[in-house]
Amino acid sequence: MIYTVTLNPALDRSFIADTVTAGAVNRITPIRDDPGGKGINVAKVLKGFDKPVCACVLVGGSIGLAIASMLDKEGIPTIIGELKENTRINSKITDRDGVTTELNEAGPAFRQGAYEAMKEELLERVVDGDICVISGSVPPGAPETIYGEMITELNARGVKTFLDTSGACLENGLEAGPYFAKPNASEAGISESIEEAVSAADKYISRGVHSVIISLGSYGAVYRDADGRLMTCAGVKVNPVCTTGCGDAVTAGFASGIYSGLDPSEAFRFAMACGTAAAVTDGTQAPSTATVDKYLQEVQINILS
Ligand SMILES: Nc1ncnc2c1ncn2[C@@H]1O[C@H](COP(=O)(O)OP(=O)(O)OP(=O)(O)O)[C@@H](O)[C@H]1O
Ligand SMILES: [Mg+2]
Repeated sequence: MIYTVTLNPALDRSFIADTVTAGAVNRITPIRDDPGGKGINVAKVLKGFDKPVCACVLVGGSIGLAIASMLDKEGIPTIIGELKENTRINSKITDRDGVTTELNEAGPAFRQGAYEAMKEELLERVVDGDICVISGSVPPGAPETIYGEMITELNARGVKTFLDTSGACLENGLEAGPYFAKPNASEAGISESIEEAVSAADKYISRGVHSVIISLGSYGAVYRDADGRLMTCAGVKVNPVCTTGCGDAVTAGFASGIYSGLDPSEAFRFAMACGTAAAVTDGTQAPSTATVDKYLQEVQINILS
């Protein structure tokens, strides 16, 4: 099973408008609601590949219930920790020129008991060889050490832990030695350059991460692992539709590849095809398998060692 953990999910509500002007009354039309948050995005991509996936989420109120029922309808089982306050809504308003304005809430307050209940169920269920993808921000009030502690407990059970977050949660999480990390250029503290990513990747391995993909947006990505493999991949030239969630697609693709026993070079190629496919897919919807297959033919992996 591949578990995903989303401690601060959101209902992604998409609107269209003619124009969006700060300080004015803006008329907007709702288009669709999607369950969102980085771990949920990963789960949606994995579900599209028919991988066995389970989404662990902290949700609350009627919005939380709506998210749980949307995941249920998409055939994604859940492990739920229940918060007292309503789950957040992130509004995305796209104007007639295609410019998107986002209004994102911080999310409901963290509740230790809800988190413990969710985590205990996860720890009871996991078995050696499972993957657990821990992604995104944490709710207000959650300790910065939360991902690191979760990684330590999951590692001890033989679970391959994947970490995709930023700031203090990333730094703390890395201390616990996750199996895999997927920082983007800004999270890695570098510019979008293959050369800089190659040297930055070494630092992750020396900190105890088994494998890392540093993603560089349209410039592609670098893969490094503790077995001495170093690979680069130039970005595929596309006309991007929405690049939010491309990194989540990369993480999902790599998790899918490793879970299926692919060689890291093939898992990296698959991950890059997923990232590219996500760039040409609207919103944070999972890219279709047909789009991923198309880019699988175009992605070139450069194996340096
Ligand atoms: N404009 C683009 N053109 C082509 N490929 C892209 C583009 N943007 C992203 N990608 C693909 O997606 C991968 C991940 O993108 P990026 O580095 O932007 O992730 P990210 O910043 O972690 O995204 P997010 O956190 O929003 O999911 C890139 O390595 C690349 O393969
Ligand atoms: Mg990212």
